[in-house]
Amino acid sequence: MAGKLQHITFHNGQKMPIVGLGTWQSSEGEVGKALDVALEAGYRHIDTAFLYRNEREIGATLKKWFSSGKLKREDVFVVTKLPFMGMRQSGVEKYLKKSLSALQLDYVDLYLIHNPVGFQDVDDGGFPKDKDGNVLLDVTTDHVAIWKGMEAQVDAGRARSIGLSNFNARQIKRVWESARIKPSNLQVEMHVYFQQRELRAFCRALDITFCAFGPLGSPHIYPFVESHGGDVSKLPRYNQLSDPLVKQIAQKHGKTTAQVLIRFLMQLEVAVIPKSSNPARIKENFAVFDFELSPEEMEALEALDKGPKGRQANEHVLPGLGRHPEFPWFDRY
Ligand SMILES: NC(=O)c1ccc[n+]([C@@H]2O[C@H](COP(=O)([O-])OP(=O)(O)OC[C@H]3O[C@@H](n4cnc5c(N)ncnc54)[C@H](OP(=O)(O)O)[C@@H]3O)[C@@H](O)[C@H]2O)c1
Repeated sequence: MAGKLQHITFHNGQKMPIVGLGTWQSSEGEVGKALDVALEAGYRHIDTAFLYRNEREIGATLKKWFSSGKLKREDVFVVTKLPFMGMRQSGVEKYLKKSLSALQLDYVDLYLIHNPVGFQDVDDGGFPKDKDGNVLLDVTTDHVAIWKGMEAQVDAGRARSIGLSNFNARQIKRVWESARIKPSNLQVEMHVYFQQRELRAFCRALDITFCAFGPLGSPHIYPFVESHGGDVSKLPRYNQLSDPLVKQIAQKHGKTTAQVLIRFLMQLEVAVIPKSSNPARIKENFAVFDFELSPEEMEALEALDKGPKGRQANEHVLPGLGRHPEFPWFDRY
């Protein structure tokens, strides 16, 4: 089994490499170097978003690899996301075209709706805010109409698959029931303290695969929230990387705690996208195919789940976010 688990497979047969490089807060100036190291190490899945403001440098780096002949376009799985500001049917094509142009690609492998919440369409280089610092919401967000815009991107060849991120079960069901092209993947926060059991079971029943963001507990969320005027004191402070049980299992395998946290998710058949801009840690996070957690270790790690209390990102991440009628995290899952 240690050698398997290379991919997860979508309902349409498309294969997504199970470990990808996360790039949130990997800024231009560092993301290109991070991607070079990752591609050398064997990563073939890159997770970005219009909102990460790094698609241009990712595109330039990929172009360099393609033109050198070291990789072909079909060797890499590229994911990007529709921003909050693009949350209307006509916004889908507009923002996907911007992403494709920055990435210098004709298509992405997976296009996700980044979040069920919609903002006014002001691209001011960050999150649009009012004079009190609250995000400028567009409360008319209509997921069913937006999904039609997503399907049109598959029809036009700009996205191989389409999916959702940060949607709750109720919202997923609404999209799924209206969909001509079903969502292939759901990307949500998931780690050893927040294992998303109910949402995973719900998605499995609809043949929607799962991708975990924040697999190491997203330690860099706190400075991000502070810099955007969110209330960092209302976010739980967890440190999965120094959990005593995770440490003990890591020592037994001669691995790091990060590697155990990643491997745990892989063995649950969830794709995982750890972010690092540090060359040693990028390599470390990919050296997870040569060991296997035993059923007893998996069971012990499963017992660390705190359920919804383990969620690190909540309505306090951005001021005003929780006031949107489609804010997803007031539902249990
Ligand atoms: N869809 C969404 O709304 C959403 C939300 C959040 C994230 N994401 C995606 O998911 C990716 C991963 O989530 P995340 O970035 O929030 O958090 P994460 O991957 O859990 O944690 C990243 C943080 O951990 C550090 N780190 C990485 N490898 C490490 C290691 N081996 N040992 C110790 N520290 C390590 C990184 O610092 P260094 O860079 O210094 O190594 C960085 O500060 C994102 O980058 C993004 O692509 C999506």
